[in-house]
Amino acid sequence: MSFVSTTVTVLSLLLLFHAGYSAYEFSHYLKHLTVNSDATVPLDIIAETIVATALFAFGQVLGAKQLEPVSFAKWAKGLEREGKSPFAFLERRPGYMNVTKLRDEYASAKK
Ligand SMILES: *[C@@H]1O[C@H](CO)[C@@H](O)[C@H](O)[C@H]1NC(C)=O
Repeated sequence: MSFVSTTVTVLSLLLLFHAGYSAYEFSHYLKHLTVNSDATVPLDIIAETIVATALFAFGQVLGAKQLEPVSFAKWAKGLEREGKSPFAFLERRPGYMNVTKLRDEYASAKK
């Protein structure tokens, strides 16, 4: 993460915390005010929450690493260059059992 993205993310988290605290204070205020009980959250708290969320996303995008290929062929090619195979589980499966041989072994063990 670069300095700019960290700054933007921290600022957005502070804004989000402030919006949350404001909403808490507002609900606390409403509990003691019985005159207008159907009041909704003030517009500035909603706007602050939206701006903080957008800033947080922007900060995260700024600090993101370079995108990597999502194509399966490129991913598998990269793995095989490292000496690993994405199909190793298929290549290491056991062969067919020789039932004739197993039957002979069982018969000889029984004697
Ligand atoms: C299975 O085992 C029998 C007896 O050991 C052997 O004669 C036969 O060739 C084996 N078959 C295969 C496919 O390996």
